[in-house]
This record gives sequence, structure tokens and C-alpha cells, in this order.
Amino acid sequence: MPRYAYVNGRYLPHGQAAVHIEDRGYQFADGVYEVVPVAGGRAVDEIPHLDRLERSLAELRIAMPISRRALELVSRELLRRNDLRDGLIYIQITRGVAPRNHAFPAHARPALVMTTKRMGFAGQSKFKDGVAVITVPDLRWARRDIKTINLLPNCLAKQAAAEAGAYEALQVDDEGNVTEGTSSNAWIVTRDGKLVTRHLSNDILHGVTRRTILAIATEEGVAFEERPFTVEEALGAREAFVTSATSFVTPVVEIDGGRVGGGKPGPLTRRLLAWYRDYVAGLRDSA
Ligand code: PDD
Repeated sequence: MPRYAYVNGRYLPHGQAAVHIEDRGYQFADGVYEVVPVAGGRAVDEIPHLDRLERSLAELRIAMPISRRALELVSRELLRRNDLRDGLIYIQITRGVAPRNHAFPAHARPALVMTTKRMGFAGQSKFKDGVAVITVPDLRWARRDIKTINLLPNCLAKQAAAEAGAYEALQVDDEGNVTEGTSSNAWIVTRDGKLVTRHLSNDILHGVTRRTILAIATEEGVAFEERPFTVEEALGAREAFVTSATSFVTPVVEIDGGRVGGGKPGPLTRRLLAWYRDYVAGLRDSA
């Protein structure tokens, strides 16, 4: 069965899907994206993902290329055509095609591309054994709350992690505090059992998984604090983990070669992962 991509109003076989060389996404990274998890054929947390997409677009003054309702229908149709049960939907919107010039074009039409990717979330060893991460200076711009396709610092940091045999890189600000991973939000569990993740600001992406985990923690009566934490605090923490649409709740058991929580996924991390899995599977109400 061919895999389809959606490109500006057409469903095309993935291998033939293309955009113009003067698309501003290609030339300036002038665009935004979303990654929406799919479980059991259903988009998970679609509303907050599309809310964030609309917010990112508004911040960059790019118009929605089609209505939100149409976007939802296209994503259903793409799931159907690709027979996708578990994986993700990738949505990318750029300012469109125009002769290269830094200032906005007067008449470009925003370009919309959607693809899907199959992924199995069950039984991955990272959930059972946890992962190693490294730390790197955060080299990104000051508007990390916008989910732009300009991901070069993230790519460089993730490559450094890969070369170090690690799963993710935690980015660190000038004060020595962790901002977030390259494609995930970062969390610790303190010695007294409190969940900590950095507060929302322009310094981090406002993760949808982060939001859901905080809602689940509230429901389950898990105490949490939204504040910065240092690499030293993370190394001394009882547990650590990262969250994202594609990594769910992934235990972190090593930071820069130092063991966290005895080198094993912690009990609260494992509980949060189990609760989140239930949520994704529709076994628990939207928090
Ligand atoms: N990344 N922080 C950054 C920098 C991210 O790129 C992501 C997600 C997150 C987690 O956000 P969410 O929980 O909404 O997925 C935090 C996606 C998965 C990606 O770039 O592939």
C-alpha cells in the first residue's frame, strides 16, 4: 500500500510529494510545525496541539492555510489512507513560495504539508531501562515557545548526544539551569518526592505532553513545582525523565555519565508513564 502525504490540497504518494525550491521554509526556516501522537488510529491531544499550531502561526504572522476543521479532516483522511494505528502526524506550515527576500512577501500563500509515521510505543527498551542524556549550552533564539522549523541548534545538540551514545541532550541556559531537551521537556523528582519541571515562558516549548502530565499529577495528588533546576540538582535527584509526543515519559538514568536514581527508572516515573499510556489508550479521561 503506498504511503500518502498531503501537500497543499493534494494527497500524493510519499515519494512524489515535493514543494518548490523557493518555499520560505526551505530558504529561511520561515514556518512552524506540530507532531501529534496517534494511538489506536486516533490523534492524541489534538486540540492542544492545534491550539499551539495556531498560536505559533499567529506569533509569526502566518495565516492558517485552511480552516481548523479542514485541517482535522485532512489528518483523519491521511490516517485512513495510510492505515495508521500507532505513530504520529507531522504538520508543517510555511509562509509559502516567493522570490528570495528576507522581508515577508506581499502575496505568498501559506504552504501546508502533512505526513504520517508509523511507530510502535509498546515494549521499547528505553521505557524499561531508561536512557542516558548529555548536557549542552542552549544556543537557541529567545522565542523557544514558538514551534518553528528552525531547529539547527536542536539538531547539533541531538547529534552531539548521538555521538556520545546518549538518547537526548538537555540544553542549559547561562545561569546553569536546564531549559529542556532538544525535542522534549525535562523533569526531575526531588529527594522529597516532588515533581519539578521548568515553568512556562519564552525559554521553552510549551509541551503538550508536559501539560497532560501535570494534569495527571494533579488528579493523582502528586505534588509538583514549576521552576528552573540546575544540572547538579538533576544529578542529585531521585528520578529524572523527559516527555514529548514521541517519547511519552522516558526515564533518564544517566546525565553526562553520572548515574541518576541508582541508574534505574524511578517509581514515580514508571507510574507517570503507566498513567500516560492509559490516557493515550483512552483508558482514562482527558485530564
Ligand atoms: N518535539 N521541547 C522541544 C524543543 C520539542 O521539540 C518538543 C517536541 C517538546 C515536547 O513537546 P510535546 O510534548 O508537545 O511533544 C519540548 C517534537 C516531538 C519533535 O520535534 O519531533
